[in-house]
Amino acid sequence: MTANNTPEAFHPAQSGNQQPSGEVRNVGKRGMERRVNPIKSEGEDGLFTQSWYAICLSSEVRPGEVIGRDFLDGRVVIFRGEDGKINVTSAYCPHVGADLAVGQVVGNDIQCAFHGWRYNASGECVSTMFGSKPPQRACLFAYPVTERYGVVWVFNGEEPLWDIPKFEKNEDDLIFYAYKHQPAYKCDPWVFCCNTLDFQHLIVIHGINVPQDAIDTLHDDVDWLDHGFDYRVATTHQGGVSLDWQLGIRGTSFYRQQGMYEDFWFGYIAGFSLPRPGLTDCYNIFAVEKGEDTPEGRALAQKRLKMADDLEVRTIEEDRDVLDSIRLKPGNLIKVDTSMAKFYDYLRRYPRAHPGADFIK
Ligand code: FES
Ligand SMILES: [Fe+2]
Repeated sequence: MTANNTPEAFHPAQSGNQQPSGEVRNVGKRGMERRVNPIKSEGEDGLFTQSWYAICLSSEVRPGEVIGRDFLDGRVVIFRGEDGKINVTSAYCPHVGADLAVGQVVGNDIQCAFHGWRYNASGECVSTMFGSKPPQRACLFAYPVTERYGVVWVFNGEEPLWDIPKFEKNEDDLIFYAYKHQPAYKCDPWVFCCNTLDFQHLIVIHGINVPQDAIDTLHDDVDWLDHGFDYRVATTHQGGVSLDWQLGIRGTSFYRQQGMYEDFWFGYIAGFSLPRPGLTDCYNIFAVEKGEDTPEGRALAQKRLKMADDLEVRTIEEDRDVLDSIRLKPGNLIKVDTSMAKFYDYLRRYPRAHPGADFIK
């Protein structure tokens, strides 16, 4: 038997009565072609998914301050006027292109450092300093923006397609803690989101106990929304600790988890940024109940925040090696992947746009 007709080299379609002939190895290679049904990467075709992206912490931009951040395939500025309102606009001044991050906030406007032109929160040029009427096209692109849980969120689109959801508890009874987890992950945010319905990885990577019969129930219980999903899992985690969590995704950049861990409730959001294609910053947000307004009650709430933080950082670090190296291309899926496959389809259909493209690069 020569190397060209080993059994491994046969294309399945060539088996049976039909004998392989000629370039058997090539036939075999065709039989082994990788089977993929790809999902578009962020930035592919010049477009990005229309989702709320974390861009910075609220505390990074006080009234009268401006900072710059990379976003999508360009750059934006985040500035807060004296009125306290946060704004996110394209960074490059439409006069000759200075970065407005080195400018300054004047009243509720942003002023360019180079020649002093001023822009309001809508991105309109309101002054050229020397009395000339601002050219009609001299404007910035102003993104939809909101602040929630100590994080500034920017929507890639003309209008938001969905709202950032609230926790199941009365939020007046909660305390929050938010920060940017570093370093960034070397993947698109949606790749990170795919883990939520990846039941095999919950078991293999995170040590969450999900028996086979429970997985069938999980598939049935996923609550699919127009721009996301939620499902509930009640089981045990590493060390036999009990958990009863609702897990969900909104858009392509927002993970939320809430429920009981052993004897206390906590909420967690991983808000993803997209500073450039193939890169994701993770903004960690934690919520616990305030509890008793006593020194002991406040200490307990802080202890629970710390436990939640330790748990989630450990969890997202368990994902890092895979996320930093994966080229996610859905290929040969099996029954346990049913819900993950639905999420892949959701991603393939998800609206993509880049309305700020002409402004932020
Ligand atoms: S580059 Fe901004 S005012 Fe000239
Ligand atoms: Fe994970």
